[in-house]
Amino acid sequence: MKNIYYFTGTGNSLCIANRIAAADKGTKVSRVTKKSLLKPVLLKGKVGIVFPVYAWGAPAMLEKFLKTAGYTGVEYLYIFATYAGSERNALQSCASVIRKAGGTVNAAFSVKMGNNYIIASNTASPALAERMMQKREDQLKEMIGDAVENRNVPVKKSCSPLALLASGLVHPMFAKYYGKKVSQQFNVTDSCNSCGICVKVCPSNNVRLLDNPDKLNSSSKAAGKAQKLDCNTTVLPDKKPVWGTECEVCLACINLCPQKAILYKNSHSERIRYCNPEVKVSDLFV
Ligand SMILES: Cc1cc2nc3c(=O)[nH]c(=O)nc-3n(C[C@H](O)[C@H](O)[C@H](O)COP(=O)(O)O)c2cc1C
Ligand code: SF4
Ligand code: SF4
Repeated sequence: MKNIYYFTGTGNSLCIANRIAAADKGTKVSRVTKKSLLKPVLLKGKVGIVFPVYAWGAPAMLEKFLKTAGYTGVEYLYIFATYAGSERNALQSCASVIRKAGGTVNAAFSVKMGNNYIIASNTASPALAERMMQKREDQLKEMIGDAVENRNVPVKKSCSPLALLASGLVHPMFAKYYGKKVSQQFNVTDSCNSCGICVKVCPSNNVRLLDNPDKLNSSSKAAGKAQKLDCNTTVLPDKKPVWGTECEVCLACINLCPQKAILYKNSHSERIRYCNPEVKVSDLFV
């Protein structure tokens, strides 16, 4: 039995999960979303975990998934982080979550890919993202080869004070507090055409389309009462997104909005919206 569980916002981690699955025949690829947390998963056989680095660690939702998972049936476990510039001890931090939950990481890899952190920095253009992939193609093949052959690859650890601070202090604070606040500062502009894509791509089911967002936006209680959107339903043209408080800060809603209508604190309107070049937006519908 071979399974990959991945978390993604904008497709980099899905792209890697797909690449590994294509090389390791018979591998099933499953996305980790809010639904995955309803029942602890019993991991079995060969297991891959693929995730984007968030503040030098793994996304909070993936950490929750890993904390509650069962590891007794695991034969070989590898983790794969995608990051945009500075991973520091992200692999070590994820491996430690797994270790504390009873598992053992046999191999750990990381690959630098296009940046999607649009609310704080410039994102990668499609051309840059492709160049980054091409540049790392050989390295990636080697890493995937190691995973396919079940080789042991030790988890890198940096003992620099900055790396220890990043994973030991900043990451836990980010995971605990940041997400609750960030999406409360997302705003939608008049360019929104109510297509509902922001709802469909949210791994945390944290976006709703409502009639009067100006009245309801500040109230998470109101967002909670909103009608559940069926992704196949045609939405009414006067509906606009509102956000709850369970944001993972994956930034899929902002990056994948075809109208570029979502802004964080009304900033970054000019920045390029990011999606991995090997992935279609519809591949990211939950
Ligand atoms: C909330 C957030 C925090 C991030 N933190 C880091 C970071 O600490 N270091 C880094 O190199 N990249 C960071 N990034 C960039 C992503 O790790 C990178 O673009 C990743 O490949 C995106 O993967 P995805 O397309 O699967 O969502 C961050 C992105 C987001 C959205
Ligand atoms: S904010 Fe963007 S993705 Fe969301 S409904 Fe409006 S146009 Fe569609
Ligand atoms: S609200 Fe947006 S940023 Fe937050 S988890 Fe959902 S898609 Fe990601």
